[in-house]
Amino acid sequence: MNPQLRIFHDFERLSRHAANLFVERSNRAIAERNRFLVALNGGGTPERLFQLLGSDYREQIEWSKAHIFWGDERCVPSTEEGSNYRQAYESLLSKVAIPQTNIHRVPGELDPTSASKQYAEVLKSFSDEGFDFPRFDLVYLGMGEDGHTASLFPGSPVEAHQPVIAVTANYQDRPADRVTLTQTVFNQARMIVFMVTGEKKAETLAEVLSDRYNPAQYPAQRIDPKDGQLIWLLDDSAASKLPRKLKGLKICEG
Ligand code: 6PG
Repeated sequence: MNPQLRIFHDFERLSRHAANLFVERSNRAIAERNRFLVALNGGGTPERLFQLLGSDYREQIEWSKAHIFWGDERCVPSTEEGSNYRQAYESLLSKVAIPQTNIHRVPGELDPTSASKQYAEVLKSFSDEGFDFPRFDLVYLGMGEDGHTASLFPGSPVEAHQPVIAVTANYQDRPADRVTLTQTVFNQARMIVFMVTGEKKAETLAEVLSDRYNPAQYPAQRIDPKDGQLIWLLDDSAASKLPRKLKGLKICEG
């Protein structure tokens, strides 16, 4: 399915749009399947989204039927700053009436191999027919300046058949040992929303969205849902180097 590009003039509107998608997709999933399965990401970009979901948008979501997972996690104790779980817990999950049993964190305090095995079991317990993992209703992803997404980094094997893998990668000063879902899981999702902001990512983004397919170097290109929607939420700076051809297709908002 062709990706949709939505470009925003400011970060606040982009984040509000991402929050609206959460509300919309959760309502739909709960109406159709009586539960909403969402995978969150980490990093700076989703922080405002988490805050909004924990405040202005809080009452619009049936939290008792929402199940929270992570697309990737850094292997640090959940009390440490580098933990994606901790970030989402502090900004969002501690602010809403979600049962603790609906929060499915990666056990980041374990070594990456053990943590990925345990998480694969968790995914299995939510699996959809024919799979070892669930079809997520919504997945949020970010993209690094190097084209990584979740913890799928440049140079990692393009053919990943396991749903969850252990990874060691040096990126900025963030924790290196990680656990990540692979495209095997992501590409079965019903909707994937990338959020990418800032000029520093513009060049890589232009490459990722180009016709030049190089998923070994740009792991974000591995994301291509088979039977779901792929939406890129960008700010003006991140979109500044996209070719004219692509800009012609964009949906401008805000
Ligand atoms: C993580 C992420 C990772 C992130 C990108 C972008 O846990 O580190 O899930 O894939 O989305 O590195 O991070 P920023 O939003 O901070 O640029």
